[in-house]
Amino acid sequence: MLNPSNTPTRTRSRALEQYFTRPEIGDLLVGQMTLAEAGHVVELGAGEGSLLAAARRRWQAARLTSVDIDHTLRVADQAIGGHKHLVMNVLSPTFARSRRLDLIEFDAAVCNPPYQVAELADPYRSLLKKVGLHAALPREGGMPVDLVFLAHNLRLLRHGGQMGIIVPDGTVTGERSRPLREALLASHALHSVIELPSRAFPGTDAKTFILTLEKGGSSPDRIPLYSADQYASLSEPLYVSADEAACRMDHRFYAWQRSAGGPAVRALGEFAGVEIIRGRWNATEARHAGLPILHSTDIPGAGQNRDLLLSRAGIRRIYGDAPRARAGDIVLTRVGRHLEERFARVGAGESVISDCLYVVRGPAAAMAQLWRSLNSAHGHAYLAANARGVCARVLNRSSLIEFPLPICTGSLRR
Ligand SMILES: C[S@@+](CC[C@H](N)C(=O)[O-])C[C@H]1O[C@@H](n2cnc3c(N)ncnc32)[C@H](O)[C@@H]1O
Repeated sequence: MLNPSNTPTRTRSRALEQYFTRPEIGDLLVGQMTLAEAGHVVELGAGEGSLLAAARRRWQAARLTSVDIDHTLRVADQAIGGHKHLVMNVLSPTFARSRRLDLIEFDAAVCNPPYQVAELADPYRSLLKKVGLHAALPREGGMPVDLVFLAHNLRLLRHGGQMGIIVPDGTVTGERSRPLREALLASHALHSVIELPSRAFPGTDAKTFILTLEKGGSSPDRIPLYSADQYASLSEPLYVSADEAACRMDHRFYAWQRSAGGPAVRALGEFAGVEIIRGRWNATEARHAGLPILHSTDIPGAGQNRDLLLSRAGIRRIYGDAPRARAGDIVLTRVGRHLEERFARVGAGESVISDCLYVVRGPAAAMAQLWRSLNSAHGHAYLAANARGVCARVLNRSSLIEFPLPICTGSLRR
């Protein structure tokens, strides 16, 4: 498995999510781990061994073990001294029983796993139970593969061993992953969370985070959250309690929340007469059927004219009572990459909206206040902080209901 460094770049498999980690992100991940020495280090889903190379830069004497399903991959030179590579499927039901790894207890685990979803299977149940994460077993919708990798890493670590792992947005911010966050906080020590910049990995826009954990330790009372810029430089930490971390653990959200201590605010959904309407039609289906539809791609972004003049032509009957935008409404993007940039006000006309949009309708004073807030740095930060998701980000209805409007005396009455 050792290779010469001049190996020509091979085509990477999208199906196996071969998005490899840049050295500076690898150094950032390993640099967050607090072990002075590590005798044995493991990387599951090692790719070309980028994280092991970072581990070797930090702990020169470490013995390295890598595992990957793809037998065509070659681990880079920097990682290979005394190195053992295994071609194995981490998702296989027999992986936990394999004797090829069982004989070693690892001091450190580094990992950037694939983010697919596998079928829920009994071996995953017992694996999660074994590492104190039984409560994190999903009730529906399959088994996140990154959770399987995380659990195997915990299994392979010695008590007190540490892991640095790159996880998707949902693990850190999603409501569905709350039981996982609670279980991690209760059964292990969560040392830190780093929010990585978008485009941290060549070939994908996935929103990701680095978690550093200690097996079997107790989480500190105040957990530091950071964000990293494109050069992998860290922000100042923001500290959250374990209760806050169970709720979500992204630096951007708490930075917004802590800066929001300015004017008194009231949630959009609290104002009488305000309606939040979500589109129902799929834009592709509508367009295939030759029907006009207002979709997220029609909504202006930063620096563009935000007044929409829609068609006045009658909307075809086939749409029935499908939700539409009309004059006076504000249209927001529900699903999209930079949805905090994409919103508009309908100046005239009417259109059916796609399921990637919301329409907000209500009394003129509330609408004027919402419009000002959307155009302010504060409104922008709120949407950016509350959009969730790995690639295309999603603004939940509940986040829009909670959208904070500064209270202007006399201008807004309930
Ligand atoms: C996101 S890449 C990360 C590679 C490397 N750790 C890095 O950070 O550069 C995920 C790796 O997991 C491997 N992989 C995908 N499915 C796997 C499986 N079931 N078992 C073992 N490895 C797998 C892929 O081949 C790929 O190299």
